[in-house]
Amino acid sequence: MSFMRSLEDILSNYDHGPEDIIEILHEVQSRFNHIPKEAIEIIHRKTHIPKSRIYAIATFYKAFSLKPRGEKIIRVCMGTACHLKGAPSIVDEIKKQLGISPGEVTKDKKFSLELVNCVGSCSMAPVVVIDDKYHGQMTRQKIRKLLKQDSEGGILHEV
Ligand code: FES
Repeated sequence: MSFMRSLEDILSNYDHGPEDIIEILHEVQSRFNHIPKEAIEIIHRKTHIPKSRIYAIATFYKAFSLKPRGEKIIRVCMGTACHLKGAPSIVDEIKKQLGISPGEVTKDKKFSLELVNCVGSCSMAPVVVIDDKYHGQMTRQKIRKLLKQDSEGGILHEV
């Protein structure tokens, strides 16, 4: 299905009222793995919601991304507790293993790396969240193992 058809398909499910914008953005995010600029333009034309408002919503919620994301999102908590317990070293290991920096996506579009503020599990610090699953007491060795499991076709399990 073409981009335009996909978008029309999503928009056809709504009345185009301002109250629908978050639901529309959710669908766009899940269909395209991000919210393309062109989609914002089209949503604006159909709903008459100002583009600035759509951008504000798309950048406010962490569920949305204006840049393409990988199939799996690796979020490293950089809150104080995690930072003190070695989060920067975990980030270095991920960078080394995947060849990407925070905010980037691997070439095969499999992983995104993001740095986030406290995820509310400080007692498990340092914490890495992979696709909403929390992995605590993270170490360089553990993250290497998790990434290796995945590249061998396994599912990312808690270790
Ligand atoms: S600082 Fe990382 S979970 Fe709170």
